[in-house]
Formats: sequence, C-alpha cells, structure tokens
Amino acid sequence: MEIKESTLDRVKRLKEKYALIGQDIDSYLDGLIYANPLTYWDYIEVDSLLSLQKPKTDFPDEKIFIVYHQITELYFSLISHELEQICKNGKNISDAGQDLGWKDNLDVNFFIERLKRVNKYFEALTRSFDIMRFGMEKEQFTKFRMSLLSASGFQTASYRYIEIASTDLKNLVHESKREELWNADYHEQLDNIYWRRGAVVADTGEKTLTLRDFENKYLADFHRFADEYQPINIWKKYQELSAEDQKNPLLIQRLRELDINVNVNWPLVHYRTAVHYMGGAAGDEKGTGGTNWKKYLPPRFQRRIFYPELWSETEIEEWGKSWVEEVLAESLKTEEKLKDEL
Ligand code: HEM
Repeated sequence: MEIKESTLDRVKRLKEKYALIGQDIDSYLDGLIYANPLTYWDYIEVDSLLSLQKPKTDFPDEKIFIVYHQITELYFSLISHELEQICKNGKNISDAGQDLGWKDNLDVNFFIERLKRVNKYFEALTRSFDIMRFGMEKEQFTKFRMSLLSASGFQTASYRYIEIASTDLKNLVHESKREELWNADYHEQLDNIYWRRGAVVADTGEKTLTLRDFENKYLADFHRFADEYQPINIWKKYQELSAEDQKNPLLIQRLRELDINVNVNWPLVHYRTAVHYMGGAAGDEKGTGGTNWKKYLPPRFQRRIFYPELWSETEIEEWGKSWVEEVLAESLKTEEKLKDEL
C-alpha cells in the first residue's frame, strides 16, 4: 500500500512533537492502533450528566429547579473560561507544551471578541430566566423549597469568582463602607464585600446559616483567587492597553454591557422571580433562613458597578433604572455603524 507524501509529512511532524517532550512516537502510534473511535455519549458524558439531578421531594417541578441551576453553573464556568483567557493574555502555550497560536500580548480585538462571548452567555441566562419565573407551579415551588433549607443560589461561588476577575475589589465593597475602604488593601476590601451583608436575618442583622456555611466553605478560596486575579482583572487589562486602544468604542461598549449584564439585568430578572414566588399576597414571604432579600436583591439598592469610570454621574445615580434599555440600543447602533465603516 502506498503512503501519501502528506501522510509521511504528518508522521514527521508528530515525531518532532513527541521528541520535544522526550517521548517515542511509536508508543503513541500503538495507542492509536488500539483506541476505539470516540462516541458522542462518551465524549459528552451524557450518562454522568443526566445522573446529577437528585430531587429531595416528589414534586415534579423540583427537577426544573435543579436543572436550571446546573445550566446556570455551566454558563458561569464558560464565562470564567473566557475571562481567564483575557486576564492571562490568551495564554499561548498549552499545559502540554503545544503552541496554540495565540498572541503574547493582549490584543484589543481578542479582548473585544472574548467579552462579546461573555456578554452572549449572560444574555442567554437573563433571557432564559423565565424558565424559573413562569416555568414552575408556585404551589409546588413554595413547598419543595422548604425541603432545601438552608441551601440558596446565594451560595454559588461561580458568580463571586466572575466578579473578582472582572473588577477592582473596591467597587464591590458594601456601599456603606466603599468610600472609607476605597484605597485599602484588597483583602480588607474583600472582607467587606457587599454580599457578606446580604444573607443576614432581616429583623436582627445576624448572619444566616446560609451565609455562615458559604463563608466557611469559600472565603479563604476567594482570598487566594483575589491574589491571583486582582492584579490582572479585566479593568487592569483595560488600563494596560495603549491610550488609543482604550478609546476603542466597541471595547468600551462591551465593558459597559458586561457591567449591565452582571450588575443590573441578571440581578433584576432574578429579583423579579423572587418576587413572583415569594412576594406573596402580603408580600412577606421569608428568604432562606429569614434573609433580608427584599432590601438586598434589587440592583438599584446595591449599586454595584464594575467600571464607574465608563458611566456618567447621572447613570451611576440612577443605576438599575430604565436608562439600561437605552444603553443596549446604543450598543446595537455602535456595532452597526462600525460594520458600515468597514
Ligand atoms: C425560583 C427561582 C429563584 C428564587 C425564588 C430565588 C430567590 C433568591 C433569594 C430570596 C435570594 C436571597 C438569599 C436567600 O434568601 O436565599 C437569592 C439569592 C441569590 N440567588 Fe436566587 N432564586 C432563584 C433562582 C436562582 C438561580 C437559578 C440562580 C442561579 C445560580 C440563583 C442565584 C442566586 C444568587 C447568585 C444569589 C445572591 C445574589 C446576590 O448576592 O446579589 N438564584 N435568590
């Protein structure tokens, strides 16, 4: 049987690849001879994935609640995956030593494109939140939620990692301490992060079990993550760009969208869902362990803003109000205009 020149060339390249890491190509070719073709179900781990839903009650709608949280976690992990690539300049050598052809320095177009992906994931989450808001029977929800205490979506660490990678921690300090700690060390800022006053008992201000458990499990990890990501967070990456790149209208637009997606749109649709299920006729349904959720969840009360430098004073003042729609419309216009110019 004749072997094509192009095949021999590939074998040569493989030989070089394995020689570089001190490996013998023949053993790897043996591996190829014995390996079975890949199947969809093995690659996607379908059986494992579909075995991960374990309702605590017999209410059928609890499955929707679990699956939708899991979908959200997967999107959050994609978001972190993109943020990591921006923060680490599109790491150009893989752990196995392969050159993946990415650039050494952060290229502004790479920055814009990856932020676009992040924003798409957030938009998908915000749009699909109706699956939670209107997709379960209220009667079932109010019952099965009582079997899930003291767990709460509040305890998703993924959301907190996204925040720490996106901005300087000073912007996430609880509003009452933000000014005082503006120039403090970022560990002190992290110790005063807004959500540590989130899941507290509405009447007494004491930490709920939900919050205590969350802190015990993750607070030390968040500090370690801050050490790694605060010096290279998204805002720092923006500031490292040339003065000209920093003026790129599309990049500014993407950063503003990210700010709105994480700090207004998703929190708003989530808050509305909480109101739908827990607002009740008397409007007094308790949060997990009696949390202050009505005071804590609305974005306009927290005014968390990743990139205050990119907003006007009025926009900051009216954070979480209707101007958000205008910014998104403006975003579409900028994109269309730039496409026309090309
Ligand atoms: C019917 C659906 C949902 C309701 C009624 C709801 C309700 C609440 C409430 C009342 C809180 C305040 C803390 C507490 O009392 O537990 C909270 C916090 C939170 N929930 Fe949900 N939630 C729902 C779905 C989700 C989903 C699908 C996620 C996705 C992971 C999620 C993530 C969060 C996060 C991240 C917080 C903390 C928000 C912050 O710190 O600003 N929730 N939720």
